[in-house]
Amino acid sequence: MITRRSFLRATGTAAAIAAFNDDHLERVHAAARRVAGSAPGDVAGDESYWREIQQAFTLDRTIINLNNGGCSPSPRVVHEAFKRYLDISNQAPVYHMWQILEPNIETVRRRLAAEFGCDPEELAITRNASEALQIAQLGIDLKPGDEVVTTNQDYGRMLTTWDQRVRRDGIRVNKISFPVPPPSMDDLARRLLAAITPATRVLHFCHITNLTGQIFPVKRICDEARRRGVKTIVDGAHAFAQFPYKLSDLGCDYYGTSLHKWLLAPIGTGFLYVRRENIAPLWPLQPAAEAQKDNIRKFEEIGTHPAANHNSIAEAISFHEGIGSERKAARLRYLRDRWATRLAANPKFRIHTNLTDPAQSCAIANVQVVGVPTAKVVTRLWDRWRIIATPIAHAEFEGVRVTPNVYTTLEEVETFTTAMEEIAVKGTD
Ligand SMILES: Cc1ncc(COP(=O)(O)O)c(C=O)c1O
Repeated sequence: MITRRSFLRATGTAAAIAAFNDDHLERVHAAARRVAGSAPGDVAGDESYWREIQQAFTLDRTIINLNNGGCSPSPRVVHEAFKRYLDISNQAPVYHMWQILEPNIETVRRRLAAEFGCDPEELAITRNASEALQIAQLGIDLKPGDEVVTTNQDYGRMLTTWDQRVRRDGIRVNKISFPVPPPSMDDLARRLLAAITPATRVLHFCHITNLTGQIFPVKRICDEARRRGVKTIVDGAHAFAQFPYKLSDLGCDYYGTSLHKWLLAPIGTGFLYVRRENIAPLWPLQPAAEAQKDNIRKFEEIGTHPAANHNSIAEAISFHEGIGSERKAARLRYLRDRWATRLAANPKFRIHTNLTDPAQSCAIANVQVVGVPTAKVVTRLWDRWRIIATPIAHAEFEGVRVTPNVYTTLEEVETFTTAMEEIAVKGTD
């Protein structure tokens, strides 16, 4: 067995020793102990608590990063683990990476499965949500004329993946439309379920969309699809670790997520959940041996890859648990509301996200400056205030997507809000 002492001797790196002494995770836990008796909604505005979280990151505070939806910086404790594992690997990768580090992926699988609420034997670790979802999208047997129902607000790459199957395999894809924000969750469910025909084999939709942050009534849709014999692929790229839920709240067949967004794991991490009965019939993206047919690990047969990325997911889970899902979601909604409710009250802005029903949104919201092209708004935010935000240009609407994170300060949100008000009054020239 490898003890801490023998491990340190084997690896012999100063970085490993330093990391064992790292106290940042302990500071997050200590801050959590201080607020343990308080409701998440009360802690959401407790700046002394969130100051500890903010200090757990090494950031460039000369810029205001309100695009954490693309991917997020990791807290120091995660990034240190990542660098440490890279250093260890580089000593003799065939030994240190393959023999010492790689087997520990099973710990990561077990802990991710516990957080998601599935059996570890149903969870494959991938390099991002695209890979996870494409395993499902390209691995399901479909014949010409079979139909996939999705939305025209699903992620571009995932729609491109279906479009390629249309060209290659002769399947059909129906992309439904919905207003932003929709009139209700019922409306969303109705639209998707009404599109199912006798030819429909797969329903593919977002748990939460990247365009406006709309959360879908996943369970209602998946249960009904299942009753009608239709498989469900849920794109959870933005959902995991942004707000609390478990697999039992979803009921889907396949679920793909990124971990470099809201879990704050290193760039190049994600997972795929496959309901047990679907593992054997699903083809992996990179071929695996027949003997692995029933084994979730067949989806991880990707050739040589760094162990550092997936192993430091463990630190990200610890950091996430240190804050707690409920407390994190409450803070994210608090930060969102600080800017969004003020702009929503101003007729110069149109908010494309439901701000009143917590079941429908969390950190992500989308705002349009009426009469000002969104691309110009985003350029102005960067040029004048060094604020990063995401321009969303959809065929049916446009707006600025704003995604704060747990390290975002109130001053940063305030600066963004004031900047938007100034743009609405003075324009962008
Ligand atoms: C809704 C949605 N799905 C899938 C993806 C792809 O995620 P990744 O870049 O981790 O592959 C993204 C990325 O932003 C996304 O927003």
